[in-house]
Amino acid sequence: MTSKTEDGANRRRRLLVTGVPTDAVVERANEEFDAQFWREADPIGDRLLDVASGFEAVLIMPDDKLDAERIARLPASVEVLGTHSVGYDHIDLAAATARRLPVFNTPDVLTDAVADLALFLVLAAARGTTSAEAALRRGEWGRWAPTLFLGRSLGGLRLGIFGMGRIGQAIALRATAFGLRVHYHNRTRLAEDKERGAQFHESLESLLSASDVFCICAPSTPQLKDSINAQRLALMPPGAIVVNVARGDLVDEAALFAAVQEGRVGAVGTDVYRGEPNIDARWLDLTNATLLPHIGSATHEVRTAMGMLALDGIHSHFSGAPAANLLNPQVYAVTRRSGD
Ligand code: DGY
Repeated sequence: MTSKTEDGANRRRRLLVTGVPTDAVVERANEEFDAQFWREADPIGDRLLDVASGFEAVLIMPDDKLDAERIARLPASVEVLGTHSVGYDHIDLAAATARRLPVFNTPDVLTDAVADLALFLVLAAARGTTSAEAALRRGEWGRWAPTLFLGRSLGGLRLGIFGMGRIGQAIALRATAFGLRVHYHNRTRLAEDKERGAQFHESLESLLSASDVFCICAPSTPQLKDSINAQRLALMPPGAIVVNVARGDLVDEAALFAAVQEGRVGAVGTDVYRGEPNIDARWLDLTNATLLPHIGSATHEVRTAMGMLALDGIHSHFSGAPAANLLNPQVYAVTRRSGD
């Protein structure tokens, strides 16, 4: 990716990456761009506003918050943004669009990995594997007994999926192989071929009351924050299992802790938290929970595919043919800022 300098020489576009991707992605970034990587342990935060000066492209990580204020204060040199994630709740997309800043994300390539992990969490929560393993590690594995380490069988249970997008559908596909009966709530009902026999619920309340296992796959939007609150948790069948592979802020965590303590929720499996990685200490007190540190997309293959897709998007901006993973096509409808 080159541009002409004032004296007519070719110069590679400057790309700032606010973390260190997999080797293959680093190699490609260095080949195609004049790339620099933020290698500090902490997210770049406000330092981005200085560090990005002179860079035309920035590839951010999902823990880099780009709110309206930061977007407004981005150096004028920055003309395209990529995020190393499918989720973009950390970016004020309206503010980016207002600044005519195209934003590219990484859909599709992580769908299967996240769905795999969701099923892992369903299984782990249902069978209590985390506490059973902890007992083994503590040397507390005594004589075999019919009542030792009992969990729940999945066959015949109802799995309620909140958010039936790509990941929700991939979870549904896997769940049927375990004998779970799939129910879902989504903004819009899926076409019959995509539904594959899953039962649609018009409301989240109706879905919750039909969920022995409830799996959160909805995107984090301001409207959906705290959707899983005390009132709604109370609708679930006693002892229900709650799994979250989406975002922590969809759940009122205090309400969930209370529901677990009172036994209304029987077990939890989660990959996401409010304020992660600095999670509420009460999570650690839950014995009937499987807690993972946001690893839904964390396979070598997928993280490379995500980085490549984000680079494809950035590349496509400079080549004048924006790729399909563009989140705000409106920016090009108004005017093209670059392209040669
Ligand atoms: C995503 O891509 O949004 C994931 O949650 C980050 O791993």
